[in-house]
Amino acid sequence: MDINEQASVALVTGGTAGLGLALTRALAVEGWHVITDGRSAERIAAAALPESVEVVAGDVTDADHRAALVAAVAAAGRLDLLVHNASTLGPLPMRPLAEASIADLQQVWRTNIGAPLVLTGELLPWLREADGVVLSLSSDAAVNHYETWGLYGASKAALDHVTLTYGAETGLTAYAVDPGDMRTGMHQDAFPGEDISDRPLPETVVPSLLRLLEKRPAPGRYRAGDFS
Ligand SMILES: NC(=O)c1ccc[n+]([C@@H]2O[C@H](COP(=O)([O-])OP(=O)(O)OC[C@H]3O[C@@H](n4cnc5c(N)ncnc54)[C@H](OP(=O)(O)O)[C@@H]3O)[C@@H](O)[C@H]2O)c1
Repeated sequence: MDINEQASVALVTGGTAGLGLALTRALAVEGWHVITDGRSAERIAAAALPESVEVVAGDVTDADHRAALVAAVAAAGRLDLLVHNASTLGPLPMRPLAEASIADLQQVWRTNIGAPLVLTGELLPWLREADGVVLSLSSDAAVNHYETWGLYGASKAALDHVTLTYGAETGLTAYAVDPGDMRTGMHQDAFPGEDISDRPLPETVVPSLLRLLEKRPAPGRYRAGDFS
Protein backbone atom coordinates (compact mmCIF):
# COMPACT_ATOMS: atom_id res chain seq x y z
CA MET A 1 0.00 0.00 0.00
CA ASP A 2 1.22 3.54 -0.74
CA ILE A 3 2.53 5.23 2.44
CA ASN A 4 0.08 8.11 1.89
CA GLU A 5 -2.89 5.73 2.16
CA GLN A 6 -1.90 4.33 5.57
CA ALA A 7 -3.04 5.71 8.95
CA SER A 8 -0.51 8.01 10.58
CA VAL A 9 1.70 6.26 13.14
CA ALA A 10 3.00 7.76 16.41
CA LEU A 11 5.39 6.35 19.00
CA VAL A 12 4.79 8.02 22.37
CA THR A 13 7.11 6.86 25.15
CA GLY A 14 5.52 6.64 28.59
CA GLY A 15 1.91 6.52 27.47
CA THR A 16 0.45 4.81 30.52
CA ALA A 17 0.09 7.82 32.84
CA GLY A 18 0.08 11.60 32.90
CA LEU A 19 0.64 13.59 29.72
CA GLY A 20 1.75 10.58 27.68
CA LEU A 21 -1.52 8.80 28.43
CA ALA A 22 -3.62 11.87 27.63
CA LEU A 23 -1.76 12.40 24.32
CA THR A 24 -1.94 8.72 23.38
CA ARG A 25 -5.71 8.67 23.96
CA ALA A 26 -6.23 11.87 21.97
CA LEU A 27 -4.14 10.67 19.00
CA ALA A 28 -6.04 7.34 19.00
CA VAL A 29 -9.36 9.25 18.91
CA GLU A 30 -8.03 11.20 15.91
CA GLY A 31 -7.37 7.92 14.07
CA TRP A 32 -3.64 7.58 14.62
CA HIS A 33 -2.07 4.18 15.17
CA VAL A 34 -0.19 4.75 18.44
CA ILE A 35 2.63 2.62 19.79
CA THR A 36 3.51 3.34 23.40
CA ASP A 37 5.28 1.89 26.41
CA GLY A 38 5.66 1.93 30.17
CA ARG A 39 7.32 -0.23 32.79
CA SER A 40 4.55 -1.01 35.27
CA ALA A 41 2.08 -3.76 34.32
CA GLU A 42 -0.40 -2.32 36.85
CA ARG A 43 -0.19 1.10 35.22
CA ILE A 44 -0.61 -0.41 31.75
CA ALA A 45 -3.77 -2.24 32.91
CA ALA A 46 -5.14 0.83 34.72
CA ALA A 47 -4.60 3.00 31.63
CA ALA A 48 -7.30 0.96 29.81
CA LEU A 49 -6.04 2.20 26.46
CA PRO A 50 -8.17 1.74 23.35
CA GLU A 51 -7.58 -1.52 21.46
CA SER A 52 -6.03 0.36 18.56
CA VAL A 53 -3.12 1.40 20.80
CA GLU A 54 -0.18 -0.98 20.79
CA VAL A 55 1.52 -1.18 24.19
CA VAL A 56 5.06 -2.59 24.27
CA ALA A 57 5.83 -3.03 27.97
CA GLY A 58 9.33 -2.10 29.03
CA ASP A 59 11.89 0.49 30.05
CA VAL A 60 13.27 2.96 27.50
CA THR A 61 16.74 2.59 29.02
CA ASP A 62 16.76 -1.11 28.07
CA ALA A 63 18.26 -1.82 24.62
CA ASP A 64 16.14 -4.95 24.06
CA HIS A 65 13.01 -2.94 24.82
CA ARG A 66 14.04 -0.21 22.39
CA ALA A 67 14.61 -2.90 19.77
CA ALA A 68 11.03 -4.09 20.42
CA LEU A 69 9.77 -0.52 19.88
CA VAL A 70 11.70 -0.27 16.61
CA ALA A 71 10.25 -3.66 15.56
CA ALA A 72 6.74 -2.37 16.30
CA VAL A 73 7.39 0.67 14.10
CA ALA A 74 8.80 -1.55 11.35
CA ALA A 75 5.67 -3.72 11.53
CA ALA A 76 3.46 -0.62 11.35
CA GLY A 77 5.42 0.38 8.24
CA ARG A 78 5.80 4.09 8.95
CA LEU A 79 6.46 6.69 11.66
CA ASP A 80 4.97 10.18 11.46
CA LEU A 81 5.53 11.28 15.06
CA LEU A 82 8.06 10.33 17.73
CA VAL A 83 7.29 11.75 21.19
CA HIS A 84 9.97 11.53 23.85
CA ASN A 85 7.76 11.80 26.92
CA ALA A 86 8.97 9.13 29.41
CA SER A 87 11.09 10.84 32.01
CA THR A 88 12.43 10.70 35.54
CA LEU A 89 13.09 13.32 38.20
CA GLY A 90 15.92 11.21 39.61
CA PRO A 91 16.31 10.15 43.23
CA LEU A 92 13.46 11.24 45.49
CA PRO A 93 13.16 13.40 47.42
CA MET A 94 14.90 15.74 44.99
CA ARG A 95 18.13 17.09 46.45
CA PRO A 96 20.84 19.73 45.95
CA LEU A 97 23.55 19.03 43.37
CA ALA A 98 26.18 18.77 46.12
CA GLU A 99 24.42 15.59 47.26
CA ALA A 100 24.24 14.04 43.77
CA SER A 101 26.41 11.09 42.78
CA ILE A 102 27.59 10.08 39.33
CA ALA A 103 25.20 7.11 39.59
CA ASP A 104 22.31 9.56 40.18
CA LEU A 105 23.40 11.56 37.13
CA GLN A 106 23.60 8.43 35.00
CA GLN A 107 20.14 7.25 36.08
CA VAL A 108 18.53 10.58 35.13
CA TRP A 109 20.48 10.98 31.91
CA ARG A 110 19.96 7.40 30.70
CA THR A 111 16.20 7.92 30.81
CA ASN A 112 15.83 11.58 29.90
CA ILE A 113 18.51 11.92 27.24
CA GLY A 114 20.23 8.60 26.54
CA ALA A 115 17.08 6.77 25.43
CA PRO A 116 15.77 9.65 23.26
CA LEU A 117 19.23 10.06 21.70
CA VAL A 118 19.56 6.47 20.50
CA LEU A 119 15.87 5.80 19.83
CA THR A 120 15.70 8.80 17.49
CA GLY A 121 18.76 7.53 15.64
CA GLU A 122 17.29 4.04 15.32
CA LEU A 123 14.01 5.41 13.96
CA LEU A 124 15.46 7.94 11.50
CA PRO A 125 14.74 5.89 8.34
CA TRP A 126 11.00 5.75 9.11
CA LEU A 127 10.85 9.38 10.25
CA ARG A 128 12.60 10.52 7.07
CA GLU A 129 10.35 8.48 4.80
CA ALA A 130 7.19 9.94 6.36
CA ASP A 131 8.61 13.49 6.75
CA GLY A 132 7.92 12.91 10.44
CA VAL A 133 8.11 15.06 13.56
CA VAL A 134 10.23 14.52 16.69
CA LEU A 135 8.64 16.10 19.77
CA SER A 136 10.53 16.02 23.07
CA LEU A 137 8.81 16.99 26.32
CA SER A 138 11.04 19.54 27.96
CA SER A 139 10.58 21.69 31.05
CA ASP A 140 11.08 25.26 32.20
CA ALA A 141 13.80 23.68 34.38
CA ALA A 142 15.80 23.30 31.11
CA VAL A 143 16.29 27.07 31.00
CA ASN A 144 15.72 28.20 34.61
CA HIS A 145 17.65 27.16 37.70
CA TYR A 146 15.74 25.90 40.72
CA GLU A 147 17.16 24.45 43.91
CA THR A 148 17.11 20.61 43.81
CA TRP A 149 16.12 20.52 40.10
CA GLY A 150 19.71 20.52 38.76
CA LEU A 151 20.07 16.93 37.50
CA TYR A 152 16.62 16.91 35.92
CA GLY A 153 16.97 20.43 34.48
CA ALA A 154 20.39 19.68 32.98
CA SER A 155 19.00 16.51 31.38
CA LYS A 156 16.11 18.47 29.85
CA ALA A 157 18.52 21.13 28.53
CA ALA A 158 20.51 18.30 26.94
CA LEU A 159 17.31 16.77 25.56
CA ASP A 160 16.42 20.10 23.94
CA HIS A 161 19.90 20.32 22.45
CA VAL A 162 19.95 16.78 21.09
CA THR A 163 16.40 17.07 19.71
CA LEU A 164 17.08 20.31 17.88
CA THR A 165 20.49 19.15 16.68
CA TYR A 166 18.81 16.09 15.16
CA GLY A 167 16.59 18.55 13.33
CA ALA A 168 19.60 20.52 12.09
CA GLU A 169 21.47 17.39 11.01
CA THR A 170 18.62 15.57 9.31
CA GLY A 171 16.16 18.25 8.21
CA LEU A 172 13.46 16.58 10.32
CA THR A 173 10.94 18.82 12.03
CA ALA A 174 12.03 18.71 15.67
CA TYR A 175 10.46 20.39 18.67
CA ALA A 176 11.35 20.68 22.36
CA VAL A 177 8.17 21.66 24.17
CA ASP A 178 7.71 22.78 27.76
CA PRO A 179 4.21 21.59 28.70
CA GLY A 180 4.05 23.68 31.89
CA ASP A 181 3.08 22.41 35.32
CA MET A 182 0.56 19.55 35.26
CA ARG A 183 -1.28 17.55 37.91
CA THR A 184 0.50 14.21 37.43
CA GLY A 185 2.34 11.57 39.42
CA MET A 186 5.67 13.13 38.49
CA HIS A 187 4.58 16.57 39.67
CA GLN A 188 3.33 15.13 42.97
CA ASP A 189 6.69 13.38 43.41
CA ALA A 190 8.41 16.74 43.00
CA PHE A 191 6.17 18.32 45.63
CA PRO A 192 5.58 15.53 48.17
CA GLY A 193 2.73 16.17 50.57
CA GLU A 194 1.75 19.37 48.75
CA ASP A 195 -1.77 19.95 47.45
CA ILE A 196 -1.26 20.18 43.66
CA SER A 197 -4.97 20.29 42.80
CA ASP A 198 -4.54 23.83 41.41
CA ARG A 199 -2.25 22.54 38.62
CA PRO A 200 -3.97 21.86 35.28
CA LEU A 201 -4.65 18.29 34.24
CA PRO A 202 -2.45 16.94 31.42
CA GLU A 203 -5.56 16.61 29.22
CA THR A 204 -5.68 20.42 29.07
CA VAL A 205 -2.20 20.54 27.47
CA VAL A 206 -2.95 18.01 24.71
CA PRO A 207 -4.97 20.38 22.46
CA SER A 208 -1.96 22.73 22.38
CA LEU A 209 0.34 19.88 21.33
CA LEU A 210 -2.12 18.85 18.61
CA ARG A 211 -2.30 22.46 17.38
CA LEU A 212 1.51 22.58 17.25
CA LEU A 213 1.53 19.42 15.13
CA GLU A 214 -1.18 20.81 12.87
CA LYS A 215 0.50 24.22 12.41
CA ARG A 216 3.95 22.70 12.09
CA PRO A 217 5.92 25.89 12.85
CA ALA A 218 9.69 26.13 12.37
CA PRO A 219 11.71 23.64 14.42
CA GLY A 220 12.66 24.97 17.85
CA ARG A 221 11.85 25.20 21.52
CA TYR A 222 8.29 26.19 22.41
CA ARG A 223 5.96 26.31 25.36
CA ALA A 224 2.69 24.44 24.97
CA GLY A 225 1.03 27.69 26.04
CA ASP A 226 2.26 29.26 22.78
CA PHE A 227 -0.42 27.15 21.04
CA SER A 228 -3.32 27.48 23.48
N1 LIG B 1 4.09 17.11 35.29
C1 LIG B 1 4.66 18.30 35.13
O1 LIG B 1 4.33 19.27 35.85
C2 LIG B 1 5.70 18.49 34.05
C3 LIG B 1 6.23 19.79 33.88
C4 LIG B 1 7.19 19.99 32.88
C5 LIG B 1 7.60 18.93 32.09
N2 LIG B 1 7.06 17.68 32.29
C6 LIG B 1 7.50 16.60 31.39
O2 LIG B 1 6.35 16.08 30.74
C7 LIG B 1 6.53 14.68 30.48
C8 LIG B 1 5.36 13.90 31.08
O3 LIG B 1 5.39 14.09 32.48
P1 LIG B 1 4.25 13.47 33.43
O4 LIG B 1 4.16 14.39 34.58
O5 LIG B 1 3.07 13.10 32.63
O6 LIG B 1 4.99 12.12 33.93
P2 LIG B 1 4.38 10.89 34.76
O7 LIG B 1 3.05 11.22 35.30
O8 LIG B 1 5.47 10.47 35.70
O9 LIG B 1 4.20 9.76 33.64
C9 LIG B 1 5.35 9.24 33.03
C10 LIG B 1 4.99 8.10 32.10
O10 LIG B 1 6.22 7.60 31.55
C11 LIG B 1 6.40 6.23 31.91
N3 LIG B 1 7.82 6.02 32.15
C12 LIG B 1 8.61 6.61 33.08
N4 LIG B 1 9.86 6.14 32.99
C13 LIG B 1 9.87 5.25 31.97
C14 LIG B 1 10.87 4.44 31.40
N5 LIG B 1 12.13 4.44 31.87
N6 LIG B 1 10.54 3.64 30.34
C15 LIG B 1 9.27 3.63 29.86
N7 LIG B 1 8.29 4.37 30.37
C16 LIG B 1 8.58 5.17 31.42
C17 LIG B 1 5.53 6.04 33.16
O11 LIG B 1 5.12 4.69 33.35
P3 LIG B 1 6.04 3.67 34.27
O12 LIG B 1 6.49 4.45 35.46
O13 LIG B 1 5.12 2.53 34.58
O14 LIG B 1 7.18 3.27 33.39
C18 LIG B 1 4.33 6.91 32.78
O15 LIG B 1 3.50 6.24 31.86
C19 LIG B 1 7.88 14.31 31.07
O16 LIG B 1 8.86 14.35 30.06
C20 LIG B 1 8.13 15.42 32.10
O17 LIG B 1 9.50 15.61 32.35
C21 LIG B 1 6.14 17.44 33.25
